[in-house]
Amino acid sequence: GLSWTLPDHPKLPKGKPVAVVVLDGWGEANADQYNCIHVAQTPVMDSLKNGAPEKWRLVKAHGTAVGLPSDDDMGNSEVGHNALGAGRIFAQGAKLVDQALASGKIYEGDGFNYIKESFENGTLHLIGLLSDGGVHSRLDQLQLLLKGASERGAKRIRVHILTDGRDVLDGSSVGFVETLENDLSELRGKGVDAQIASGGGRMYVTMDRYENDWDVVKRGWDAQVLGEAPYKFKSALEAVKTLRAQPNANDQYLPPFVIVDDSGKPVGPVLDGDAVVTINFRADRMVMLAKALEYADFDKFDRVRVPKIRYAGMLQYDGELKLPSIYLVSPPEIDRTSGEYLVKNGIRTFACRQSCVIETVKFGHVTFFWNGNRSGYFDESKEEYVEVPSDSGITFNVAPKMKALEIAEKARDALLSGKFDQVRVNLPNGDMVGHTGDIEATVVACKVADEAVKIILDAVEQVGGIYLVTADHGNAEDMVKRNKSGKPLLDKNGGIQILTSHTLQPVPVAIGGPGLHPGVKFRTDIQTPGLANVAATVMNLHGFEAPSDYETTLIEVADN
Ligand code: 3PG
Ligand code: CO
Repeated sequence: GLSWTLPDHPKLPKGKPVAVVVLDGWGEANADQYNCIHVAQTPVMDSLKNGAPEKWRLVKAHGTAVGLPSDDDMGNSEVGHNALGAGRIFAQGAKLVDQALASGKIYEGDGFNYIKESFENGTLHLIGLLSDGGVHSRLDQLQLLLKGASERGAKRIRVHILTDGRDVLDGSSVGFVETLENDLSELRGKGVDAQIASGGGRMYVTMDRYENDWDVVKRGWDAQVLGEAPYKFKSALEAVKTLRAQPNANDQYLPPFVIVDDSGKPVGPVLDGDAVVTINFRADRMVMLAKALEYADFDKFDRVRVPKIRYAGMLQYDGELKLPSIYLVSPPEIDRTSGEYLVKNGIRTFACRQSCVIETVKFGHVTFFWNGNRSGYFDESKEEYVEVPSDSGITFNVAPKMKALEIAEKARDALLSGKFDQVRVNLPNGDMVGHTGDIEATVVACKVADEAVKIILDAVEQVGGIYLVTADHGNAEDMVKRNKSGKPLLDKNGGIQILTSHTLQPVPVAIGGPGLHPGVKFRTDIQTPGLANVAATVMNLHGFEAPSDYETTLIEVADN
C-alpha cells in the first residue's frame, strides 16, 4: 500500500511555523498605468521583489503548467490552487472535455447514454456559460456537443445561455450569441428543432458560488425551467443587444430573459421527460444549480415545478457529494495532495480565506481547491478552516478592501497562538476587484492586499517562522486588452478596452523569514517552473522531502 510517511529533509529542520500566502490575481507584468500593482503603493511586495534575488522568482501560472489545454489559456483559481496544493500537474476539466469530444468517448459513456434516452420524446437542454474564456466552459465545446448530440438523435434542443464579460471582454456576449445562433440555424436546416430558450448574465443569473445568494440560482431556474422572466424577447440576439443598451448594463449582470414564440409562449421550459446538461466543466459556480436540478429534497428556494428529467453535468462537480451523480466526462482525480501528506505527518494546519458567504460552507480556494476539489477536513484534530464572511450584495469595486485585513489578523493570531505549523491564506482583492474592471478600485485593492501581507510577515518575524508568498494567477497587473506587441487596444470611441479577466502572466514566489535556514535559495536549474513546484517547496520548508512524483522543489540548500 501507499506510504504516507514523508522522509526527513537532509538539511532542513522541522518545527518552524510556515505561512503560505496566496495573493489571488497577482501577476508580474511591465510597469505601466494599467498595471494596478505597479500603480498602487505596495512596499512589502516591492521589498520582496527587490530583495535577495535567490529568494524571489517568477513561476508559470497558466496554460499547460496548470493542466490547461494550451498556453493560450489564462490561469484561474481552480487550476492554480489545485496545482499549488497537489504538487503535480493534472489534466484539468477543460482538457479532459476536449479529449473526450475529440475521441468521441464522450458519446460512449454512461452519462451520454443516460440523457440519450430522452432524445426520442423529450428536449435536450444545455445550460451554461457562453464564451471562449476557458475558465468555466468553452463555446467550441458547446458547438461540438450540439453537433454530436444532434447526430446521435437529439431532435429538439434548447440552449440556456449565461453571458460572460468576466473571463472575456465586456460586450463580447453579442458575438458569442451570433455564433451560436448561426450554429443553431444550421442545425434547423438539418431538421433539428434547435433554439436559444433563455439567458442572463452569469453574476446575476445561475452562476453564484459557495451558497452566497440562492436568489441568483432561482432567477435562472425561473427562466430556464419554468420559462418565466421579467424580459421576453423573440430572439437572444435582440435580448442581449436591448438589455446591454440599458444604463450601466454589462454582460456579467444582464437580467434574466426568456425567448418566446409569436404567441408569446416561452420556447423552452424544461418539462417532464426532458434531458438537461450543465455544460460548464468548472465546479464552483455550477454546484448550486446541480443541487436544484438533482435533489428531491431541496429547500433553498421554491422550485414551483420540479420536472422529471434526466440530468447530467459536463463533469462531476463535487466528488464528496457525488454531485451530479451522472456526468459526461470524469473529473481529474487529484489525489495525495500536499495537505493530506502534511496532516498525516503531523503538521497542524490553519487555512483562512474570504468567502462570499454569510453562513459557513466547506468550500474554499485554499481548502477545497487546495485539497484537490475535496470538501471537508483530512483530520479535523489537526486542521482549522476559517471563512471570513464577505460584504454581500455589492460588487467589490465599491468595497475594494474586502476583508483582507481581517483575514491577515486571523492568520496573525493563528501564528502567534503557536497551535499551527502551517498557516495558509488567500487574499482575494487583486482578483475580485480586478474582475470589476474598475482600475482605481483595483489600485486600492492591491494596496490593501500588500498591507495584509505585512501583518502576516510581521507575525512570522515574531514567531521565528518562515513565509512563502505567491499567487494563483494574474489579474490586477494588467487591466487593458492588448495587441500582440503589447499596445493597449482601443474601442470604437477611442477608450481603452478594459480587461476584466485573468491574464497569462507569471506570478511571484518569495520565501524568507527568520526561521528560514540561511543556506536556502532558489535553484537556477529548473527550466520553466510553475505553481505545481510550490508544494514540494513548502514540504521542504516544513523539514520534509516531497514524494518522488511531485514536481521538483524550487529550493536548494547551500552548505555554510
Ligand atoms: C470567476 O468565477 O469569478 C471567474 O470566472 C474566475 O475567477 P477565479 O478563477 O479567480 O475564481
Ligand atoms: Co478571478
